[in-house]
Amino acid sequence: MRKKIVAGNWKMNTTFDEGEALVKGIVSLKAGVAADVTLVVAPPFTHLNCLAEDLEKAGVGLSAQNCANHESGAYTGEVSAKMLASVGAKYCILGHSERREYYGETNATLAEKVALVLQNNLIPIFCVGEKLAEREANRHFEVVKSQLEVVLNLSADDFAKIVIAYEPVWAIGTGKTATSAQAQEIHAFIRKTLSEKFAAAAEQTSILYGGSCNPKNAAELFAQPDVDGGLIGGAALVAENFIAIAQSF
Ligand code: PGA
Repeated sequence: MRKKIVAGNWKMNTTFDEGEALVKGIVSLKAGVAADVTLVVAPPFTHLNCLAEDLEKAGVGLSAQNCANHESGAYTGEVSAKMLASVGAKYCILGHSERREYYGETNATLAEKVALVLQNNLIPIFCVGEKLAEREANRHFEVVKSQLEVVLNLSADDFAKIVIAYEPVWAIGTGKTATSAQAQEIHAFIRKTLSEKFAAAAEQTSILYGGSCNPKNAAELFAQPDVDGGLIGGAALVAENFIAIAQSF
């Protein structure tokens, strides 16, 4: 059985107090979520250490949104995977389209980050997804396939640990969701691509959908056979909405 996961990507939102209140809200509503759904939240770096204990007690996974592509040393402003593990993070989002677009992340830097995250026993939530022009040019399969190269180069043991998030860039923060048919089509393509290298393990890989997922459209998306949950941006900033999405399986 594949793990069902709903992960909240807070991006660069919330002061510490706001983040603490959001976690309190999520924790207080969590009892209404089925036991087989794993909840994960990814607050900004500054909040991780102080939120870790309450989340751990509540059985909610703590994730970072990024990490450095170096182990340690003279990289002013960077945060290492080891530091994240040391404050209780269990997951790290990598390769989000905003990181690829605004911070120039490439397959090469992402391969370094994925390796460091795995070495520190964190689970990478590895994001892929095409831009609007790429979809319109019918290049979405090819684009996603080339982004998946990073995880196709992992060892079988490491590959078995990862989570994939498919997030079409044109659907992120735009209110424009992929249809459930579009999501299923590309999720199935992702699984097929992964299974060509990792036959059995790819059946167990959780593939999350992200991009304007909300309490209204989540049920239809999550009902697709190859959609195993969601990576949620805007709707994850309101506890009731995040929980309602997690109740949509
Ligand atoms: P959104 O963001 O739900 O606000 O579209 C999703 C994401 O970028 O992870």
